[in-house]
Amino acid sequence: MVFQFVLSAFFSHHSNIVGMNVSAFFIHHSNIVGMNDSYLSAAIEIAQDAGKILIEELSRPLDIRYKGDEVDLVTQADKRSERFIVERLAKYFPDHAVAAEEGTGHESPSASEFRWHVDPLDGTTNYAHGYPCFSVSIALAQRDTLLAAVVFNPFYNELFTAARGEGAAFNGKRIHVSKVAKLSTSLLCTGFPVRNRKASANLQYYGDFTQRSHGVRRDGSAALDLASVAAGRFDGFWEFGLAKWDTAAGVLLVEEAGGKVTDFAGNPYQLGGPVILATNGLIHEEMRTVALEISRRSPANV
Ligand code: IPD
Ligand code: CA
Ligand code: CA
Repeated sequence: MVFQFVLSAFFSHHSNIVGMNVSAFFIHHSNIVGMNDSYLSAAIEIAQDAGKILIEELSRPLDIRYKGDEVDLVTQADKRSERFIVERLAKYFPDHAVAAEEGTGHESPSASEFRWHVDPLDGTTNYAHGYPCFSVSIALAQRDTLLAAVVFNPFYNELFTAARGEGAAFNGKRIHVSKVAKLSTSLLCTGFPVRNRKASANLQYYGDFTQRSHGVRRDGSAALDLASVAAGRFDGFWEFGLAKWDTAAGVLLVEEAGGKVTDFAGNPYQLGGPVILATNGLIHEEMRTVALEISRRSPANV
């Protein structure tokens, strides 16, 4: 009964879904219990198709441009992927707002409270150098609540998904954060800004955390870094100055995989906030204490 209601509500609400393969929409998820799964299925389909664009563009000569005068790169792949995602979201969810990194998103025409956060290519620097650590990141929020999330690495066909209240998955299998309980035996990850690089204090944090753990990786895609915390590959991740589209999907992945996401003060992380700390929960307080200690020595200028 409930299931039928949800489905009919979905399709009457989105009555102008054109050309959508409805059965494909539900095929991945046999345990559909709510709208969030429907949103998730749409996001999966769109992320996988955008991933095909990224792989296709990899075999073409790259047209690298710089946003500003530092190392903030943008390629034709970022733009093509974003154009595709924004168009498809507008077709499926015409009432929803879309915030996308390359600026082609739009506000909600009906002032609806649903907003998609889209990074059409997270890890552009890696992509431009042929280092296969990049992803498509798509998340839906209702006001401040994240409902559905997808991070997809099309090179390795790695699909990370989450729907609020229903857990997180990697290629369809349920995932959980790691059980590592001490900073000294943890593997961490961070990232560095592509703008105002000299003002960033993160090298101090990088050095300290490197000495206090098994090591700190710098993989170059914040969305995949967070997905890796969700999957237990990393035990903790922090970074300064990330945008909403960098973290929206990854945050829900970590939370649904049983992890914790805050700022360094321990307050719930707000999308677009100055710093994010995402861990398996077990090393959270230890990481936070160290981070606060470092920030007293080298205040982070983000
Ligand atoms: C970047 C990546 C990187 C992070 C940078 C981001 P982009 O996003 O997520 O890991 O360290 O701060 O800007 O520009 O490749 O979409
Ligand atoms: Ca990004
Ligand atoms: Ca990007």
